[in-house]
Amino acid sequence: MQNNASLVVVLGTGGTIAGTAVHATDHVGYSAAQLGAAQLVAAVPALAGLPIEVQQIAQVDSKDMDFSIWRALAEAVDQHLARPQVCGVVITHGTDTLEETAYFLQRVLAPSKPVVLVAAMRPATALQADGPQNLLDAVGVARSVGARGVVAVLAGRVHSALDLRKVHTYRLDAFDSGDAGTLAQIEQGRLRQHRAWPGGEAFGLVRLPRDAAQWPQVEIATSHAGSGGAIVAALCASGVQGIVVAGTGNGSVHRALEGALLQAQAAGVAVLRSSRCLGGSVIDATPPALPSAGALTPVQARIELMLQLLAHRVA
Ligand code: SIN
Repeated sequence: MQNNASLVVVLGTGGTIAGTAVHATDHVGYSAAQLGAAQLVAAVPALAGLPIEVQQIAQVDSKDMDFSIWRALAEAVDQHLARPQVCGVVITHGTDTLEETAYFLQRVLAPSKPVVLVAAMRPATALQADGPQNLLDAVGVARSVGARGVVAVLAGRVHSALDLRKVHTYRLDAFDSGDAGTLAQIEQGRLRQHRAWPGGEAFGLVRLPRDAAQWPQVEIATSHAGSGGAIVAALCASGVQGIVVAGTGNGSVHRALEGALLQAQAAGVAVLRSSRCLGGSVIDATPPALPSAGALTPVQARIELMLQLLAHRVA
């Protein structure tokens, strides 16, 4: 699966893949984001001798991912991909918000070269750490002829950024692509591809504010038994510009919460209705009072709504 032996750039952002624990048996009691990306690359003997450049963009537990890191990451990816000698970019990242960063980068850049997010469920110090094999696989995908778009590589599977979701709290194979299915498998270093690389139009880097305070505030509210409108009132009072509701089933929303959301919408807050179900899309029989996010997960819908708000702001 090799591409003209050109350069892979590894960008580090932290995560469990860069985490360390006191004991090799510790899979939970560890500190994420301790090792630099250069150390992670150096720990994989099979990567020695390959043309690889490393840049550390951030060093965070990905639960703390924020707009300024996203902006810096998107810019670095864009700059490296524009270099003719670069065949692809690998990003080491935590698993907890991996699907958000993946979706964000695909929507903003829609790159024509591969951008491969890689993570691990066990820290680098674990007896059987999964990070080194995942990193080797990710570099392999970044060097693959014909690969393009943002994908994530874990546990021998390649997931499209458009379908990726974390579905398990500790299993090594903790990610899934829902109804769309795995994009490809890595078998003995070779890709067995099942479907097309992610595509679509790029939102564009220039429309992303440099100042994180300028990004639209979009929050997620969940509909559940006994839901009320207080959360919406609190969000509106805090100056929110958009609300994604994670509805039940086919995007249904508790009547008390729905009433509050309709009021917020009438007052100019953008509302998007998704489902808290792990699979499927929201399908409307009649035009809905609250627009639906279709097949987007709540966190994807949140990114989409932020981009929509940014587009309108610039337009
Ligand atoms: C993180 O998301 O940074 C910590 C958890 C993980 O990577 O599995």
